[in-house]
Amino acid sequence: MTSGRGKPVAGITGAVGNTPLVRLARLSDRDDILIWAKLEEFNPGGSAKDRTALAMIDAALSDGSMTAKTSIVESSSGNLGVALARECLLHGWAFHCVVDPRVNRRTVALMSAFGATIHRVTAPDPKTGDWLIARRAMVRELLMEIPDSVSFDQYSNPAAFTAHAAGTMSEIVSDLGHAPDLLFVAMSTTGTIGGCARHLASIGARTLAIGVDAEGSVLFGGSRGTRVLPGFGAGVAPELEKNAHPHEVVRVADTASVVGARALVHREGVLAGASGGAVVAALMERIGDFAPGTEVVLVLHDSGASYLETIYDDAWVEENLGMCAGELRRREELMT
Ligand SMILES: Cc1ncc(COP(=O)(O)O)c(C=O)c1O
Repeated sequence: MTSGRGKPVAGITGAVGNTPLVRLARLSDRDDILIWAKLEEFNPGGSAKDRTALAMIDAALSDGSMTAKTSIVESSSGNLGVALARECLLHGWAFHCVVDPRVNRRTVALMSAFGATIHRVTAPDPKTGDWLIARRAMVRELLMEIPDSVSFDQYSNPAAFTAHAAGTMSEIVSDLGHAPDLLFVAMSTTGTIGGCARHLASIGARTLAIGVDAEGSVLFGGSRGTRVLPGFGAGVAPELEKNAHPHEVVRVADTASVVGARALVHREGVLAGASGGAVVAALMERIGDFAPGTEVVLVLHDSGASYLETIYDDAWVEENLGMCAGELRRREELMT
């Protein structure tokens, strides 16, 4: 099955979307279940956030909020920053990205290559210990300091729903020829799951859209705790959450996400990022309960190439998550 890729496009922005949907036949022992992965790493910025960036820019251009603005300031765990850095370069806008120490080194290097100015918060919010709250506070400060600046604010910007309804989910349904029974999507701003759920509702699909969160994240009533992995989960509930409406929420421990990512690459040759590992772990925890013939789609937000020094590095995992390579391997073998 093809995803419609390979058509000539005008400029790199035209290559956003139409990512491949790939059958994963080796991930589970359950050969009576159909598992598909939507590989968002095939977007030119390497993640699903290319779609969000384009939708937010389109909305700002059409509602006039970019008139006379020359600088964009945004907080990002990395992927949106890469997408916006490239698009700001093409539009001739200066881009300031606020990151925290959990950001992948390669992601920052990518943003810099596209000409972004990086601002690093060095301490979490003193009241809550949360990094996202600290990043958003720095965005507010920068907006006051930088003339003619604006933030798209990915945490409250409904354009993300449009991007993933008209893009991600609609492509999945079109590639399959129908809606799947189950959809697993990692969450942070909740833009991806919210947009996917919106499209499913609009076509009357009976798909169960499962939002995958990190243990220690506060999304949908979760309790705040320590989380180490970047990209998914949130330390403060984003405004979008109120309109996101996943049918279920599953929380995954950091160690289980690493095990999921390792199982995926070892069995399927798909090198996913940390949130992709969480999505695999969430699926594998429940797969024993699925009826024969169940069709599942996993949205994998980004590639593991940016995580080679973290979740794919045994020494890093032992130091940061307290799990040795032998235990990781044992748990991976149990994940069937
Ligand atoms: C790697 C990764 N996974 C999952 C997500 C969650 O997507 P959303 O913010 O649309 O909920 C993000 C968002 O930044 C991400 O970068």
